[in-house]
Amino acid sequence: MLRLVLLTTLLLLDSPESVIAENGFDGWLRYAPVHCGKSCQRLLPSRIVTLNGTGNNSIDTATEELQLGLGKIVGKEIPIERSDCDSRSSILVATADQYRQACDSSLDLSVLDEDGFWLRTSDGTVQILGQNERGALYGAFEYLSLLSQGNFTNVDYRTNPHASIRWVNQWDNMDGSIERGYAGPSIFFSNGQIVEDLSRVKQYARLLSSIRINGVVVNNVNANATLLTDQNMDGLARIADVFRPYGIQIGVSLNFASPDTLGGLGTYDPLDSAVITWWGNVTDRLYKRVPDMLGYLVKASSEGQPGPDTYNRTLSQGANLFARALQPHGGILMFRTFVYDHHINESIWTNDRANAQVEFFKELDGQFEDNVILQIKFGPIDFQVREPVSPLFANLYHTNMAIELQVTQEYLGQQDHLVYLPPLWKTILDFDLRVDHKPSLVRDIVSGQRFDRQLGGWAAVVNVGTNTTWLGHHLAMSNLYAYGRLAWSPTEDSQGVLEDWIRLTFGLDRRVLETITDMSMASWPMYENYTGNLGIQTLTDIIYTHYGPSPASQDNNGWGQWTRADHDTIGMDRTVKNGTGNAGQYPAEVAQMYENIESTPDDLLLWFHHVPYKHRLHSGKTVIQHFYDAHYAGAETAQHLVSQWDSLEGRIDQERFDHVRKRLVYQAGHSIVWRDAINNFYWNMSEIADEKGRVGHHPWRMEAESMELYGYEAYAVNPFESASGYHAIVTTSNSTSGTAETRVEAPSGKYDIAVNYYDMYGGQSQWTIYVNDRIVGSWQGDSEETLSHTPSIYLDGHSATRITFEKVDVHQGDVLKIVGVPDGVEPAPLDYVALLPPGIAD
Ligand SMILES: *[C@@H]1O[C@H](CO)[C@@H](O)[C@H](O)[C@H]1NC(C)=O
Ligand SMILES: *[C@@H]1O[C@H](CO)[C@@H](O)[C@H](O)[C@H]1NC(C)=O
Ligand SMILES: *[C@@H]1O[C@H](CO)[C@@H](O)[C@H](O)[C@H]1NC(C)=O
Ligand SMILES: *[C@@H]1O[C@H](CO)[C@@H](O)[C@H](O)[C@H]1NC(C)=O
Ligand SMILES: *[C@@H]1O[C@H](CO)[C@@H](O)[C@H](O)[C@H]1NC(C)=O
Ligand SMILES: *[C@@H]1O[C@H](CO)[C@@H](O)[C@H](O)[C@H]1NC(C)=O
Ligand SMILES: *[C@@H]1O[C@H](CO)[C@@H](O)[C@H](O)[C@H]1NC(C)=O
Ligand SMILES: *[C@@H]1O[C@H](CO)[C@@H](O)[C@H](O)[C@H]1NC(C)=O
Ligand SMILES: *[C@@H]1O[C@H](CO)[C@@H](O)[C@H](O)[C@H]1NC(C)=O
Ligand SMILES: *[C@@H]1O[C@H](CO)[C@@H](O)[C@H](O)[C@H]1NC(C)=O
Ligand SMILES: *[C@@H]1O[C@H](CO)[C@@H](O)[C@H](O)[C@H]1NC(C)=O
Ligand SMILES: *[C@@H]1O[C@H](CO)[C@@H](O)[C@H](O)[C@H]1NC(C)=O
Repeated sequence: MLRLVLLTTLLLLDSPESVIAENGFDGWLRYAPVHCGKSCQRLLPSRIVTLNGTGNNSIDTATEELQLGLGKIVGKEIPIERSDCDSRSSILVATADQYRQACDSSLDLSVLDEDGFWLRTSDGTVQILGQNERGALYGAFEYLSLLSQGNFTNVDYRTNPHASIRWVNQWDNMDGSIERGYAGPSIFFSNGQIVEDLSRVKQYARLLSSIRINGVVVNNVNANATLLTDQNMDGLARIADVFRPYGIQIGVSLNFASPDTLGGLGTYDPLDSAVITWWGNVTDRLYKRVPDMLGYLVKASSEGQPGPDTYNRTLSQGANLFARALQPHGGILMFRTFVYDHHINESIWTNDRANAQVEFFKELDGQFEDNVILQIKFGPIDFQVREPVSPLFANLYHTNMAIELQVTQEYLGQQDHLVYLPPLWKTILDFDLRVDHKPSLVRDIVSGQRFDRQLGGWAAVVNVGTNTTWLGHHLAMSNLYAYGRLAWSPTEDSQGVLEDWIRLTFGLDRRVLETITDMSMASWPMYENYTGNLGIQTLTDIIYTHYGPSPASQDNNGWGQWTRADHDTIGMDRTVKNGTGNAGQYPAEVAQMYENIESTPDDLLLWFHHVPYKHRLHSGKTVIQHFYDAHYAGAETAQHLVSQWDSLEGRIDQERFDHVRKRLVYQAGHSIVWRDAINNFYWNMSEIADEKGRVGHHPWRMEAESMELYGYEAYAVNPFESASGYHAIVTTSNSTSGTAETRVEAPSGKYDIAVNYYDMYGGQSQWTIYVNDRIVGSWQGDSEETLSHTPSIYLDGHSATRITFEKVDVHQGDVLKIVGVPDGVEPAPLDYVALLPPGIAD
């Protein structure tokens, strides 16, 4: 251990933190050294003291973590001791109750709620008192977070959680894949079983407990009954053993049809006595192995999943089946309300998927067992870039509720786009639904406070994978960190939480702090700008990968994420007076606001109203011009991300710097793909030109299909809007290369040369670009291996990619040539080449 101390000190003295390569595995728990000089060192505690530790509990975890953290952060090696109350110059970690019995009988325990803690630091003496052991562990992490941020001031405060349910969900499949996961395979499962090596699970447990998450549901809501074999139950027990010392309990997702598919009963009717017995048996066997199991999560009668409707039973009868099986064990049933008919007919003006959850669940209010919590997505549809609050939160007086958020960026760039989510979450949490004309903030409804419910809280779909980045993008980890912080205390400020995360993740450099703060805080408005504005939804491909632009996919199908865009008008009429009636699902004051176009905020206009493209917003712009302007503004913001990041080179270790930079460069290019696709699409549909003359006019571009082609041919891209000029080129065979060339007409000068191409799944074409015979650069279509998003097998808005070669000397009359070597199914596709003067992003 002495050597470790010396090593840490040496690193502190001799080498700036920035040169140590980091792969992200430590997340925000890096415990990087901070400056602590002689006088600071003198005021550090010299022992860690527990009053009555027992094996494998969270207080032992806390003491180990404190010892590790102090060694790394301030280079001080301190012993762990059992002691009485002589706690001078020590860090005392205990439950408040232990402390009261052993040290101070006057301590008022009532100031701490379950899982809460008290942190007092007074020069070298630190007291960390948890309401329970878990709270004490949280307090230890809090103290280490202060030290890691170079904060040595004396503090004395206590903090309690907003709600008791602070869970994460993982959508991990038994085969090791993760639905909507963007960072490699599962840390839990492989080949239908629980993996042997759970060391990554342990690290995930550390990260989650440091942000005060107390539950994790380990498998996909689209659940596989084979989780419930004896062998897999044993595996679940091993997972629970790893999480337990971190104060985290596990839960599992169930497949409603298991009594039939796994149990062979020939039925899964929730009122059938054999089915009830079967679930009782399963539950007993699970609790035998995991006595502190949290309970179950169930997605039923949703998107093709089996449910009680098969037997004409209600959703509450379905939910109560599990709730009753759990009751003897004190378990909780989280029941998802994501229930809707995905075969609805768009021709019927009043049809509306956004109405479904209130229609299904409102009449069941009061019929759920007390240990049921309805898990409700934040908006009525599905994690879009902007949605109003789900009206279901305002329609249940006698039912426990939890809010479901998504840390994994399914519709928000799949971790290849930087999008800091808390500002979006805040639009929901801080919204006042005015139930019965009384203040009814969403955060007070989910905590249980507004309707006097005992249970309530938070669930977020996280989907970390085995990549050391956890989520696929180092900067995406701010979303996980902030989720935990907000679930504990939703009134915290998005930016303040972000700043803590930056200091913990990248150190105390002020420039780093300010730059990443600016980038992150602009990122959600930016992403909304270049994807879908005014409440029209993300405008991604909803039937394929949920990633790139494909506005046409919203309509003409039964999924109900409609825009109802035609030649003259756009938007969903959700009014009561002439539309789907959805506005009327909100309490009167909110209903009135959304019913009237004048009082509907611009950013939800098209969610609630069907209007002409020339309708004027409160801002004074027309809808269509807002679309055009916002898409240009958003893509412009994205171009700056790269130069902002570049200003940090040398201030961040090279490994993380490069990893993030690659994604930001990609994002800057893909934001232009988004911008052009959406603008092209609505220009084509409305035939209303951009007042500023940008849309459809690209003076710096040379379309590939207009070049001289050898071994390449023009290809009409579908959807058309995802190619400039609606066409690209592909090689005529997938065994020989193609060449596209053209003479430069632009004046001589230094240009950034941008090439738009398509990087499809299943092949890795190679391209080389020349000016005359000089090679400018070459690249490979390997994003399926190097980026995070779900790849596409087509030329479309998902595969469209841009690469830029900076500051290239080009003379008028030069021959610009690209040679593409196809690979398998990827025919080296090219869209266009742009010669960009400095400062132009076309
Ligand atoms: C702690 O838990 C592990 C895994 O469950 C077990 O192997 C070990 O014996 C336990 N140690 C103590 C002191 O309880
Ligand atoms: C210490 O542990 C023993 C046995 O678990 C228990 O009886 C006693 O109450 C504990 N003391 C304190 C101060 O918590
Ligand atoms: C240190 O942390 C405490 C508790 O969060 C805070 O009140 C105080 O302002 C911080 N001090 C500094 C110097 O950041
Ligand atoms: C469930 O898991 C088993 C075992 O891994 C696998 O064979 C089966 O295909 C899975 N079922 C589904 C619906 O994914
Ligand atoms: C529960 O099911 C198991 C396996 O199917 C069976 O062996 C066991 O007898 C059952 N236990 C009870 C109490 O029904
Ligand atoms: C379904 O249940 C409802 C009420 O419980 C009943 O009115 C209806 O007849 C049932 N339908 C069928 C097909 O059993
Ligand atoms: C959808 O509704 C329209 C208008 O009522 C009707 O003509 C059409 O047949 C319906 N389509 C389907 C698939 O039911
Ligand atoms: C009212 O609804 C009809 C369809 O029933 C639609 O065609 C019309 O555009 C709507 N009017 C307004 C003002 O939204
Ligand atoms: C988003 O677009 C609006 C409207 O054009 C613009 O005012 C705003 O600055 C843009 N914000 C970002 C972050 O791109
Ligand atoms: C819209 O796109 C189609 C190709 O899908 C094209 O035929 C049509 O001319 C375009 N209309 C306008 C107004 O651009
Ligand atoms: C995750 O890591 C694996 C192994 O290092 C790598 O092959 C894969 O491309 C990575 N995936 C992502 C999304 O970063
Ligand atoms: C060449 O492309 C065709 C059509 O996409 C495909 O069927 C074939 O498998 C490809 N050949 C190779 C060697 O991948």
